[in-house]
Amino acid sequence: MSTTILAPQLQGESLGAAIQQQIAIIVDDLIGQLPNPAQLSREQARGLIARYTAVLEGNFIYWMTATCLAAKAEEVRPILEENLYEEVRDAHPVMLRRFAIAANAFPTDKDALDVDTDLTNVRLFLGKLQGVQSTLTMAFFECWIQRFMPFLADVAGVLGSEERVYTDVHGVCDVHHTAELFRALDLEMAINPISADADLFEGVDLLRTLIVSIVQGPNPAA
Ligand SMILES: [Fe+2]
Repeated sequence: MSTTILAPQLQGESLGAAIQQQIAIIVDDLIGQLPNPAQLSREQARGLIARYTAVLEGNFIYWMTATCLAAKAEEVRPILEENLYEEVRDAHPVMLRRFAIAANAFPTDKDALDVDTDLTNVRLFLGKLQGVQSTLTMAFFECWIQRFMPFLADVAGVLGSEERVYTDVHGVCDVHHTAELFRALDLEMAINPISADADLFEGVDLLRTLIVSIVQGPNPAA
C-alpha cells in the first residue's frame, strides 16, 4: 500500500494517525482469524508455539537492530535502543525458550523450515534498511504481539503448561513499546519521508504473511 493510496492529502501527524488506524485494522483482522485454542489438537497447539518460537527467539532482536540501523532521525534510535535494552537486560529470548520447553513445544527443524520462506522475506526486507518502512513494521509487530499474548498463553494451556512469564511480560510492556514505536514512526517520517510511490506497507504485508504462517502452519495437502 502506498502513502498516496492510504491518504493522498494527509501529512505529518494526521498521516501518522491514519497509518496507526490502518495498522489497528490489520491487527484486528489477524486477531479475529485466530482459532479457538480449545478446538486445537495437541499437535496443532505444539506446532503453533514451535513455529512462533522458531521465528521470535532468534529474530526479534535482529529485526529491531536492523530497524535501529535503518533509522535516520536522531531521536528514533534511543527509542529503538530502549526496546533492545529491555530485550537484552531481561533476556526475553530466555523467557520464550522456557515458555516453549514448558509446553513441550521446542521447535524441530521441520517447524523452523515450515516458516523459512516467509521469515527469509522479512529478513531481506529489513536488509533494505528503509527507515520509515522498517519502523512501521516493528510498530505493527508490537501492536500485534500484545493482542496475541493471551491467545498464546491459552495455547500453552492446551498443552498443560502453566509457564506464563513470557506471555505476561509481553502483554504488558508492549503497550508502552507500541506507543513509542508510533512516536518513532512520526519522527522518522518527518526527517526521512518516503516517496509517494513507495510501498509504505511493504514490511507490514510480509510480516503479516509470516504471522499467518506461524498461526496456520503448513498446508496439510502440500
Ligand atoms: Fe521481548
